[in-house]
Amino acid sequence: MTETVLGPVWEARADLIVVGTGVAGLTAALRARELGLRVLVVTKASGDDGNTRYAQGGVAVVLPQEHDPGDTVQAHIADTLVAGAGLCDEAAVAAIISDGPEAVQRLRSLGAMFDAKGDGTLERTREGGHSAFRVVHAGGDATGAEVERALLKATVDGRVPLLENHVAVDAIRTPLGAVCGLLVLDGNGVPGVLGAPAVLLATGGLGQMYQATSNPAVATGDGLALALRAGAVAADVEFVQFHPTVLYTGRGARGRCPLVTEAVRGEGAILVDATGARVMQGVHPLEDLAPRDVVAAAITRHMALEPGGVDDHVFLDATSLHDMATRFPTVYAACVAAGVNPAVDPIPVAPAAHFACGGVVSTVDGRTGVTGLYAAGEVARTGLHGANRLASNSLLEGLVCGTRAAEAIVTDLAVGLLAEPRNGVDPVLPVAPVADRDLLQRVMSRYAAIGRDAEGLAVVGSVLDVSTVDRVLDTRELVEDAALTMAARALIAAAAERTESRGCHVRTDFPERSDAWRRSQVVRLTPTGQPVLADPVLTEGVA
Ligand code: SIN
Repeated sequence: MTETVLGPVWEARADLIVVGTGVAGLTAALRARELGLRVLVVTKASGDDGNTRYAQGGVAVVLPQEHDPGDTVQAHIADTLVAGAGLCDEAAVAAIISDGPEAVQRLRSLGAMFDAKGDGTLERTREGGHSAFRVVHAGGDATGAEVERALLKATVDGRVPLLENHVAVDAIRTPLGAVCGLLVLDGNGVPGVLGAPAVLLATGGLGQMYQATSNPAVATGDGLALALRAGAVAADVEFVQFHPTVLYTGRGARGRCPLVTEAVRGEGAILVDATGARVMQGVHPLEDLAPRDVVAAAITRHMALEPGGVDDHVFLDATSLHDMATRFPTVYAACVAAGVNPAVDPIPVAPAAHFACGGVVSTVDGRTGVTGLYAAGEVARTGLHGANRLASNSLLEGLVCGTRAAEAIVTDLAVGLLAEPRNGVDPVLPVAPVADRDLLQRVMSRYAAIGRDAEGLAVVGSVLDVSTVDRVLDTRELVEDAALTMAARALIAAAAERTESRGCHVRTDFPERSDAWRRSQVVRLTPTGQPVLADPVLTEGVA
């Protein structure tokens, strides 16, 4: 990877730069500000453009005095471990889930309004893989929108500066490799330098690596690429979760497709095919409420076997639910806009890319292996999700780890662990391999989605080989395309090596789970910028 030297740039300083305005980023920014840090939040889009606002189901949490009879934090931990298919970090799972009730309480004290019953206790629903009704929600199925609203309002009210329409290009580092700032580009490609001893990546996921996704346009894996370039490592990148029920709007759907929350199944809807036959019957003891990887894979298998041409979607029959319009207003509106009346019509649905279970290797306190670089939320791999995330554990992770990361940064600053921004090496615009986005999405969807094999993964590699060109990353689009290219390369390297099926990673040529593979794979960059698998020492270098 070569570099381009910059002309004059503008500069700004803070104690902490947070990249991203989703739940993890804003939670961290608010907590850091509360603890006395000068915080700057930067986003490549506008404040409310992130993935958080599209989250529907809710926040999985076992609240004291407000839970199903017999439900416990321990049971939530156990469900998370089962969903994670043997690859969760048990200590991380216990830490994050145990912090859940306090995190939800903190969010409510910032003004988030969850749906409540007449007696003031919170309503709870159930989703795939949960053994109890423990998912609290807002606006029926608009939980993410309410969380985002409350956090953004608190950010604005608290006068935390928000720099919109600036894409993070690269970390600025000292000669010893500590991160001490960020190189950004504005919408016109004008570079700027944000100096800070701590940079927290909260950039979300990479659903745009596929043709159809529940994720918005901003989900292009930027934080993963930036972290790898800064010397951090990633893990579990082969586990991209496909949501089983994204609204099917016709062949060749592209970009963000409306989600049909699992909570619809939690409240009685069932998956059927064009003949009305149940999709999940006999597949798993929890049937339609099996963990998400099981349901998505079962739908994919069912579609492949189905005769008669209806081979790219199934149906979610929610006609037994009498309150769709009020209980699930977002889903209802999306259905009506697509010409479907869920009261009488089964809803056409298909799996679509939804969540990156892996990411930048980070502790539950957000620390990566690189001094000054932190990660929280979907971009981070804390070990909570393993090979498959449990439904509604993502907002929870953002809330808990955002708070913990802010507190860790305050500690690291206080003990003098972090670098002085003035010691940063002069930034340069990186040059990186960039593939055509449309082509990348097509080959990833065809060969690296649910159901992969060695041959198909090799095809992806070859297509990327011939279609990738080195480009100076001097626009947001190029930064995004380079990130998608790097993420796809990392994914196919890890997916090709993992010769088993586990969680979201389904290999048609290795359909069984193998005990020998009960380990995470670590990805790092070579000095020339290629993602490669590193020795299987997961926490190497992580503070
Ligand atoms: C859903 O509501 O089905 C999605 C929630 C999640 O991804 O956890």
